[in-house]
Amino acid sequence: MRYKVAAIVPAAGSGHRLEAQDKKPFVLLAGRPLITYALKALDSSKHIDQIYVAADPSSIARLKGIISKYGIKKVAGVVAGGSSRAGSVKNCFDLVDPLCDIVLIHDGARPFPGDSDIMNSVILAGKFGGCVTAIPMTDTVKLAGKGFFVKRTIDRSSLWRAQTPQAFRYGILKKALSRIKNISSVTDDAFLLERLGKPVKILKGSSRNIKVTTKEDLKIAEVLI
Ligand code: CTP
Ligand code: MG
Repeated sequence: MRYKVAAIVPAAGSGHRLEAQDKKPFVLLAGRPLITYALKALDSSKHIDQIYVAADPSSIARLKGIISKYGIKKVAGVVAGGSSRAGSVKNCFDLVDPLCDIVLIHDGARPFPGDSDIMNSVILAGKFGGCVTAIPMTDTVKLAGKGFFVKRTIDRSSLWRAQTPQAFRYGILKKALSRIKNISSVTDDAFLLERLGKPVKILKGSSRNIKVTTKEDLKIAEVLI
């Protein structure tokens, strides 16, 4: 079955940790605004039908200009973000066409989502209700106790680092978003379903799918290009 899929791109953060002059979505990566990478990847994916982007209210007009300049065609709405990432996701979700089967969420700060990750997230969300892309923990993980002394070592074999894309059946995400009371406490989208006791399937992602958070990440992204 070919699902009707809407993508939500939260891009309304302040980019505080990047310590850049410009807002994070507009910071140049190999000569192009960072946000164009995620948007282009979704736009050119045959698995995505519509894109909704959340932006800082003062950046909406500028972002629309970039979307048109870079020929990104599937954007169906650019909305003002909320005070938290989950608030931004919700503002986009409220605009999503209810006829969509699947909603895929991907951070504007992740320039390199793989098309197979996009496709497999959609398939697994259709099958299980929710899917999170994640990579297995490779470092040894320590639990810190008082005064930064190691309390113990945590078994890393069942630990995964969550990324985006994350994808959900429309109806399940709608219910999860409507039930949430303290939206600012939500750090990723899969958590919304976990709170409802709904299954979220893990899809093994790629270490190339980095999130640009700091200046060093921007350099790594340039090397990856
Ligand atoms: N985001 C958002 N709305 C917010 C906060 C974050 O749409 N109120 C988005 C960011 O724009 C980013 C994604 O969520 O695409 C992941 O957030 P993060 O990497 O933390 O980006 P920022 O919040 O912008 O950066 P920082 O935390 O360093 O300020
Ligand atoms: Mg942030």
